[in-house]
Amino acid sequence: MTGPVIVGTDGSRAAAAAVEWAAGDAARRGLPLRVVHAVDRLPYEIARYPIPVEDQLDRAGRRILEEAEQAVRETHPAVRVTPALIEGDPSRVLRQEAANAAEIVIGSRGHGGFAGMLLGSVGMHVAGQVDVPVVVVRPGVSAPHGLVVVGVDGSAEADAALTYAYEQARLRECRLLALYAWQLPVHSFAPEIAYDLDEVRTAQEDYVADALRTHRERNPGVPAETRAVCAHPVTALVEAGEKADLLVVGSRGRGAVGAAVLGSVSRAVLHHAHCPVAVVRVPRPSAEDV
Ligand SMILES: Nc1ncnc2c1ncn2[C@@H]1O[C@H](COP(=O)(O)OP(=O)(O)OP(=O)(O)O)[C@@H](O)[C@H]1O
Ligand SMILES: [Mg+2]
Repeated sequence: MTGPVIVGTDGSRAAAAAVEWAAGDAARRGLPLRVVHAVDRLPYEIARYPIPVEDQLDRAGRRILEEAEQAVRETHPAVRVTPALIEGDPSRVLRQEAANAAEIVIGSRGHGGFAGMLLGSVGMHVAGQVDVPVVVVRPGVSAPHGLVVVGVDGSAEADAALTYAYEQARLRECRLLALYAWQLPVHSFAPEIAYDLDEVRTAQEDYVADALRTHRERNPGVPAETRAVCAHPVTALVEAGEKADLLVVGSRGRGAVGAAVLGSVSRAVLHHAHCPVAVVRVPRPSAEDV
């Protein structure tokens, strides 16, 4: 059974954009929407804090949820929306919510942070850490481009990202672009190694076309294009994202190091992309499965 779309809100401008994105996605998928506000009492739990803030925090939280619900009812009246006021650290609350969710949607920023910060702590601590896709939304809407971009690198996570990207392209009735950015890392150190660049390019293009084959067969209605570019993946993906409605990446790629939950490309894309970014992870086997 597919769970609801979960969106976290702290009442900020980015969170409002996340609520709008989540409501649109819930509408397209025919799923209910659960709007979550985490009440974090920790900053106030110091012995000498002069006034009890419990009631104020709850009241403020309920108001934030009411505003979000109201916005959803106005823009997506068909979506079944339920509020949830939950006590705890926002990242932890949203990670727990993921256990019974179709996806988690959050804003790139919130009310905290510092001027110029591109990604808040919730994005850092939720993306790549849960089994369901995490979508990070920036404030400021742009006109739809009719394109979903997905980064591929041959890893299992990239394959999971392709599945999600195809589903999104199908639901949005738009095109899909699968992008593979490759580089020749040794060239500048060993210029005597001769490459036939055309040959390398053709091999890379074949590779990305191969990665797409089964997905194409499963989604004949989605127009898909593959592109292999000789560039850094972050540059290539962020640039492609400028003309996309959604950028999809795996949580980590082939170059994953040790226990890193979020690869360097996904992390940088979350910071720098202008459009919404979905981070997709391959579900890890649970303790019971092992
Ligand atoms: N208390 C909360 N309850 C539910 N969702 C939240 C809460 N706080 C933040 N979020 C979600 O996370 C998004 C990003 O906010 P985040 O808190 O990470 O950034 P910030 O406030 O700018 O910086 P900081 O990491 O310093 O708090 C918000 O747009 C919202 O979607
Ligand atoms: Mg915050």
